[in-house]
Parts: sequence; C-alpha cells; structure tokens
Amino acid sequence: MSEPGVRSALVTGATRGIGLGIARMLAARGHGLSIAARDVSRLETVADELRLIGAPRVLECPGDLADTEWPGRIEAAHRDAFGSLDCLVLNAGVGTAGTIGDYRLDRLDKTVAVNLRAPFALLQACLPMLRVAAERDPARGARVVALASIAGVYAEPGLAAYGASKAALISLVAALNAEESGHGVSGTAISPGYVETEMSEWIRDRIPGDQMIPVEDVVRVVEGLVDLSARTVVPQLVMTRAGTAGFVP
Ligand SMILES: NC(=O)c1ccc[n+]([C@@H]2O[C@H](COP(=O)([O-])OP(=O)(O)OC[C@H]3O[C@@H](n4cnc5c(N)ncnc54)[C@H](OP(=O)(O)O)[C@@H]3O)[C@@H](O)[C@H]2O)c1
Repeated sequence: MSEPGVRSALVTGATRGIGLGIARMLAARGHGLSIAARDVSRLETVADELRLIGAPRVLECPGDLADTEWPGRIEAAHRDAFGSLDCLVLNAGVGTAGTIGDYRLDRLDKTVAVNLRAPFALLQACLPMLRVAAERDPARGARVVALASIAGVYAEPGLAAYGASKAALISLVAALNAEESGHGVSGTAISPGYVETEMSEWIRDRIPGDQMIPVEDVVRVVEGLVDLSARTVVPQLVMTRAGTAGFVP
C-alpha cells in the first residue's frame, strides 16, 4: 500500500560502505527507504537495522544493476510503496584496475553497465516520482546524489575504464541540472578520493585506511545536500585526501 505522506529515498548499493552510511543517515531522519544490492541476506539484515534507526518503511530490492530489467523493477516497487521520491542516491558502482592496452572489453561492458547505464536508466525511470516530490515541496525540491569518483575528474593510470564511467556519470548529473533544476529536481555528483570501504581494500598496502576519507565525511556532505533549498544547485563536489595534491586520488 502506498504511503504518500512519507519522505522517501532510494539508495543503490545500500548494504555496505558509503551507501550503507547514507541509508543510515536517511533512516535516522525518518525517510522511508528502498534499498538495493545483490546479496539478499545482507539486504534483510540492513533493512532490519534501518527500521530500528527510524525508517517508517524499508523495501528490499535484491538484484544485479547490470540486469537491464532491474532499474525499472526497483522504480515500480518504490512507486507502489511511496508514490513519490524525495532523494535518489545513485551509489552502487564497480571498479577494476587495468591499463588501456590490456583492459578486457567484457570488463569494460560490465563497468559501463553498472556505473553508467543502470544509473541513467534508474534516473530516467524515477524522474516522474522526483517531479511529484518537487511539486509537493517546492521550497526543498527533490535531490539526486550520484557517487562518482576523483578518477572521473583527474586521470589515474590503470583506472581508465572506471574513470571514464565516472566522468560520464558527472556529465549525466550536469545534464539533469540543465534539464530539470528549474522545476525543482537537481543533482550532485560527489567525486571522492579513496574512501575507507571494502572497495578500496586492494590498495590498503600503499594507502593505509587511516589516510583515506572516512565514510562518515561523505555522509555528512550528503546530509548537507539534502537540507539545501531547491534554489541552490551543487553540480559537483570533489573530496580529496589530506596530504595529496588533489589530482592524486
Ligand atoms: N571506496 C572508494 O575509495 C571510493 C572512492 C570514490 C568513489 N567511490 C564510489 O562510491 C560508490 C560506493 O563505493 P563503496 O566503496 O561504498 O563500495 P562497496 O563498499 O564495494 O559497496 C558497494 C555496494 O554496491 C552494491 N553493488 C555492487 N555491485 C552491484 C551490482 N552489480 N548490482 C547491485 N548492487 C551492487 C554492493 O552490494 P552487493 O555486493 O551485495 O551487490 C554494496 O552494497 C561506488 O560507486 C564507488 O565507485 C568509492
């Protein structure tokens, strides 16, 4: 049954790392939530935790973002439950390292499917719900937050496929702002350097966790964004690690 009065958010990749931190913050602020990831049992555990923290309703949306049917199914489930969408968090992403010369094209296809096609398809499907939320609350509007990466802003050797997919995501958010922000739907692409999560474990021998950006800092930035009025658009935020020269991720 639909719960039209409840502020709601949809978070992809909500079971670990940055997505989990954002989902916890939104639950504590009383948002109803749709949470998406592949691991069903982890989704159930996280959903229980989010209900305890304060989410009035949590929908579990298991599936692989690389499946082209999946974004439409998530959107339909969220619409049935909530009717509108105040905050869309395009967080789930994958990354594998490899130089251009050696990179396998089937890995490129998977990277682009998860990091670009799925966010594009989900954003497209969710636009009507985001517009409904913005019309209902014109002062606040509706927000899209996309987790890009500093690799999409500055080139890093060995991260061409990942970086290109994230640069495209930044561009997608810019286009969203050009098309929709005048009507209350705007987006921000957040581009952090290494964040201390499972995804960055592969480089922990060179960059210790305590020199990485804490998940909590990304969450604080997202919390600030969802509190902005609809009159302000923040197209892109770059978060660099202290002690680096910005373009070093
Ligand atoms: N960590 C960093 O250093 C860093 C830096 C800059 C940007 N980012 C970006 O920030 C975002 C979150 O990163 P993170 O470090 O929090 O990642 P993480 O710890 O690896 O968590 C990834 C989340 O996405 C889900 N996911 C992964 N592949 C999926 C797929 N194909 N379909 C559906 N769900 C999928 C995972 O759950 P399942 O495995 O159960 O599906 C998990 O919930 C990503 O877009 C990443 O590129 C990360």
